[in-house]
Parts: sequence; structure tokens; C-alpha cells
Amino acid sequence: MTTIALPHLNERALRFIGRSHKLFINGKWVEAASRLTFPTYNPATGEVLSQAAEGDKADVDAAVKAAREALDHGPWPKLTASERGRMIWKLADLLEENLEEFATLESLDNGKQLGVARAADLPLAIDMFRYMAGWTTKIEGNTIPISVPYTPGARYHAYTLREPVGVVGQIIPWNFPLLMAAWKIAPALAAGCTIVLKPAEQTPLTSIRLGELIQEAGFPPGVVNIVTGFGETAGAALAAHPLVDKIAFTGSTEVGKLIVQAATGNLKKVTLELGGKSPNIIMKDADLEVAIPGAASAIFFNHGQCCCAGSRFYVHKSQFDKVVEGITNEAKKICVGPGWEPASQLGPLVSEEQLNRVKGYIDAGLVEGACALTGGKQIGEKGYFVEPTVLVNTNKNMKVVREEIFGPVVAAMPYSDIDELVDQANDSSYGLAAGIWTTNVSKAHELAAAMRAGTVWVNCYNIFDAALPFGGYKESGWGREMGHNAIDAYTETKAVCLKVA
Ligand code: NAI
Ligand code: MG
Repeated sequence: MTTIALPHLNERALRFIGRSHKLFINGKWVEAASRLTFPTYNPATGEVLSQAAEGDKADVDAAVKAAREALDHGPWPKLTASERGRMIWKLADLLEENLEEFATLESLDNGKQLGVARAADLPLAIDMFRYMAGWTTKIEGNTIPISVPYTPGARYHAYTLREPVGVVGQIIPWNFPLLMAAWKIAPALAAGCTIVLKPAEQTPLTSIRLGELIQEAGFPPGVVNIVTGFGETAGAALAAHPLVDKIAFTGSTEVGKLIVQAATGNLKKVTLELGGKSPNIIMKDADLEVAIPGAASAIFFNHGQCCCAGSRFYVHKSQFDKVVEGITNEAKKICVGPGWEPASQLGPLVSEEQLNRVKGYIDAGLVEGACALTGGKQIGEKGYFVEPTVLVNTNKNMKVVREEIFGPVVAAMPYSDIDELVDQANDSSYGLAAGIWTTNVSKAHELAAAMRAGTVWVNCYNIFDAALPFGGYKESGWGREMGHNAIDAYTETKAVCLKVA
């Protein structure tokens, strides 16, 4: 099926791509009820890479019922916390053993650099499973001294239990396909939930392969189900399903709002990790040797396809020209090419749709009066490559400053004083992340506190860890992923009160 025959790519990954892929429901690999499949593309060439089963409402229904049965009557809830933790740890070990295969699949399906998948996506996903494996034995309730003024003399023993929230539907995007699956699946398993995962239609391959490892790790049937398919069909059916207790979603703010509406039927719990338009601020006292390449990486990493990309770039007016020239030079140095080329540093966008979206934004910016100091155009006609782009002459009313582009495009703007800067930085419907570059420690903390954003990076950017919560203020979402906050999002608290005297 695939036309790629590059000798240095992992053989097992290439064999996997050549197979036909099914849905993972109740511990078995099954075709979609409709028997339909859909193509996934190689973004570096635009060619069909592989075919996945096109799950829809009937398949989602079967998967949810399997997850319900596994939670209500299966062996899964009877496992000890320690047994559950070991199983999750085993999954991490299996991922590590198959790292090269997964990195290759991720690079081919998404377009990202193989080296990045190896060094970042895979280790972060593995670490996420290990971090959450450790949580299983630490999900504790409290004993609570209660007074109950209307029952004088009575004594009670009151405590809380932390229980799995139930069957969770998880809908993930294509920018970090395996890592997003890990961010979702790991805490849900740690909390004892059962899962129906709907990967993005652009990048289903690593989720499907993960399903095989889930089987190998020994998770009972129905604990994790994977339904590949489209958002408007499979995704919407999952979000609306009455037997799903919680939906966790990462993707666009537009679809996030649809998820909230779909969840109203049975008032399922919802967590959302949505878009961003993050300010990245270079203070007058910043170490420019570090800040300029740092700011370039903040926007160009993963080809700008990061929800937290530092896409609004604020520089003091006295240094504006110098700093912007610096980031422009960084952009010009970037070697753009297919993910499997060791020399390439920036790959294609994920899809033709994304390519057109990003080109549309650049054009809209230019029409509104922005100027591209570098970039601004598609590269070649094969694949979905866009030049790293630095826009100046931008202002807060422009589409390129207000809306998430999700491509390698940064809008640079000067500021004159700190109060104005804080207002400018917070002037967004989003609030996912912010970057600050300064050598002044007091100013760093003061500005970090002033940012209306879920993550603030100082003198660094895109630093992620399984222990560090991540999520958004405002329209960037509800709730947090990673850290112990993620466990909270997958548990219910039950109060138990026993009369003892
Ligand atoms: P999307 O929000 O449409 O897709 C994300 C996931 O939601 C996919 O699995 C998709 O199948 C599913 N989905 C789509 N429509 C759905 C529906 N009605 N009900 C349930 N599930 C549904 O994002 P898309 O179209 O791929 O990208 C559009 C923009 O979204 C990007 O340009 C970017 O701005 C933003 N985005 C943000 C991400 C983030 O990490 N926060 C990740 C991906 C996209
Ligand atoms: Mg969409």
C-alpha cells in the first residue's frame, strides 16, 4: 500500500503501515460495521500511507458497551492498585522496547522529524505511563471529623473514597498523536476507568499500534477500546453517548464547544484542552543570545502545530528591530524537509487542509497590512511544506494576532512599558501559555503572576513533564492534564458516613 521504501526506516514500522488496520473493541480487532476504511497520508509527499477502519456510531456504541461491561462486571475493577500500576508500567516498558518503530510511524503519519519523535514524543509518552503507574497506589481519600449540629450526642465515622469517574471517551488531535493518547489513557487507567479512544483521522497509526501493546501488557478486554474514524461521525457519537461518564478532548476551541453541547444529554463530565495564541515576551534585560533562538523554537517547534506555540511575539520597542532581525535569521537558517531526512529541522504540515488554513492566515495577514520579513509561502508542490514566517507591522486587531494559526508563523509586535505589555499579552480569548525572557528574577515572578495563562515559561519554552499540570485559562479549556490534577479529573469523590454511637 505504501510507496515509501527508504532503506534506513524501521522495517517493522513499514510492515505495520502495509497491513490493513481494524478497530480495537472488547479486546478484539474488528472491522468497522460499515466495512469502510479511510486513507491516512504521508504529509511529506501527499501520498496515501495506510488505510484505517472507519468507525462510526455503531462501532462507538459497541466500544462504549464493552467499556461499560469491563467497568461494571469485568476483572479490571477487582485488580489491586498495585496490579493496575504494574500493568501500566508494563505498557511503558513495551513502548520503550518498540521505540524506533513507534517513532518511525509517528514521523511518517504526522510529518514530524524522526529525531524529534525519538527524543521527545516517545520518551514523554513512556514517562507519562510510568508517572501515572506510580499514582495507582496513592489515590487516597480522607477521614473527616464531622460535627452535625442537628444530631447532638451522635458520633460518626466519616471518610471519602476516590473512585474512577467511569467510562471515559477520549478524543485526541494529530499534532502529537501518541503523546496525546498517553496524556489521556495513562491517568484514566491509573484511576481505574475504562476507555474509548478516538484518535485523529489524520494520524491513527500509533494509537492502533498502542492498542496491540495494551493487549500484550495484559489489560482485560474492554478496558481500552480504540475506534478510528472521523470527528463529525465517530467523535460526535462518542461525545453524545449516554453510557459515557466523562469526555476528555484535545483539539480546536470550535469543536470543544460542540463537545460541551453534546455532553449535556447525560451531563457527562468534560475536560478540554483547546487552542491558544500564546504571548512570548522578550524583556529589555533578556539575554538575547538565549532568548532569540528560544523564541524561534517557541514558534517553529513541531512546525508551529503546538497549542502552546509562542505565536504573539512582544519585544521592547528599543530592541525591536535587532531582535526581530535575529528571529528572522533563525527562521532563514531552518532546514525544511521530510521528517525522515536527518538534516531537516522542520517538516510538512499535517494535511492539505492544514496547509490551506495556514496559507489562508498568511494571506489574510498580508492583506490586512502585515509584512513578511521572511517566509510567507508554500515550499514546492509535493507535500504540505510552508516556510517559517516572521510577520511585522501587525496589530492586535488582525486575524493573525487574534486567531490560532497552528503553523510556523509568528507575529512580532513592539511594546513600550510593562503595564501596556501585560494588557497586550492578556488581550486574547485564549490563555494556554506564555513565555518570558528576562534576567531579572523579581520581574520574572511578577510577570508570571500577571499572565492569564495555564503555563508560564521563563527563559525556556515548551518544557513539559508528566508531573507538571498543563491546561488553559479562558477559551483554552477546562481542567488540567498531567500531574496529580489529571488524577482528580478521572476520579469521583464519595463521602461515606457511618453512625457509630
Ligand atoms: P479538530 O478540533 O476538528 O480535531 C480534533 C479531534 O476532534 C479529532 O480527533 C477530530 O476527529 C475530532 N472532532 C472533530 N469534530 C468533532 C465533533 N464534531 N465531535 C467530536 N469530535 C470531533 O481540529 P482540526 O480540524 O484537526 O484542526 C483545526 C484547528 O484546531 C487547528 O488549526 C488548530 O488551531 C486547532 N487544534 C488544536 C489542537 C490542540 O492541541 N489544542 C490540536 C489540533 C488542532
Ligand atoms: Mg476539524
